Amino acid sequence: MSEHAPEIESYLGTTLKRRYCGLADTLESRAELEAIRRNIHQNPELAFDEVRTSGLVASLLDAWGFAVTRGVGGTGVVGTLKCGEGRRSIGIRADMDALPIHERTGLPYASANAGRMHACGHDGHTAILLGAARQLARTRNFDGTVHLIFQPAEEIGAGGGAERMLADGLFERFPCDAIFGLHNHPGVEQGNFLFRSGPFMAACDTVTITIRGKGGHAARPHQSVDPILVAGSLVMALQSVVSRFVDPNEAAVVSIGTLHAGHAPNVIPDSARMEISVRSFSPDVRASLENRIRQLAISQAEGYGAVAEVDYVRGYPVLVNSERETEFARQVAQELVGADKVVSQAARITGSEDFAYYLQQRPGCFVRLGNGANQPLLHNAGYDFNDENLTVGAAYWTRLVERYLGR
Ligand code: NI
Repeated sequence: MSEHAPEIESYLGTTLKRRYCGLADTLESRAELEAIRRNIHQNPELAFDEVRTSGLVASLLDAWGFAVTRGVGGTGVVGTLKCGEGRRSIGIRADMDALPIHERTGLPYASANAGRMHACGHDGHTAILLGAARQLARTRNFDGTVHLIFQPAEEIGAGGGAERMLADGLFERFPCDAIFGLHNHPGVEQGNFLFRSGPFMAACDTVTITIRGKGGHAARPHQSVDPILVAGSLVMALQSVVSRFVDPNEAAVVSIGTLHAGHAPNVIPDSARMEISVRSFSPDVRASLENRIRQLAISQAEGYGAVAEVDYVRGYPVLVNSERETEFARQVAQELVGADKVVSQAARITGSEDFAYYLQQRPGCFVRLGNGANQPLLHNAGYDFNDENLTVGAAYWTRLVERYLGR
């Protein structure tokens, strides 16, 4: 297979030429993809407000011959392309939303919307999937149905875009035998793939604990019930949850992110409040973390004559990649970029992803794609998606679809 245009032949090195064989069109449109990515970057939109972004996605898919369904789960878009008589189907998902961060990259295509920024690379994920869409529409080298799922609101936690699209009948209206997704990963060499079958990303829960004591004069503490003392004691006690109650072979995180109480040095306040982030990788550990945190809060407060109210909110579940689909996706990546750029069983990630909800209903694989070893981290005001990944990502999705729906 050597049907590349001459300029592509000269552009590609020998190794790359072999690896990207058959994907010349994707490479040809690299500049175009970069323009699309930077356009989305410059116009970031927050969760469920991705009107411009989803409009751009829908119009491009439409122009390339996809059947386009808008307004799935709010601002979500699904592009469907069917080839041949094959009954198999595949879903690929990209997220589209930005974050409430003020961009400080100084880039010429930096955010034009103050206080909003594509600091998680969802602009890149969207552009990558558009690149694959274009390639698949041109070559139509598969037998079956592909659904390209452009999801809103990945960043907001409970009630996010994946839940909304599923509640809107995503898999009933657009049946998928399996589903695949990717996220860029700063701190790892650009273009390297991180796979892991089984639990890969954490469940993420948020706990708010309100300790109610009895306010009074700081000079007469014996006439008060001091919630600050309870809070201090509870902060220390919570450190025992992971270290003493979770199997050392498991992984979990309990981080106290906020602690607020009082307004004046000579006043004992009525109450104190703390917010906690809890991460886990199995339903059992998740349940025991919740129990321990509740018990500790209530008993610690009681020990000091106060009362604790615990509001435990479950966020995204554990993201579990199915074994067969992960092995399949690994093979696709290895053929594309070589085994040296593919980590077969990467370490677990304590971040979370609402792609986990799709994987509760369908087998599939979520992969992390290196954004560059020395790049700013996700959700940082200096972050930018690495455009070198546009071609790699689009080629990966294209090949994955062609293999999954092989003729
Ligand atoms: Ni993200």
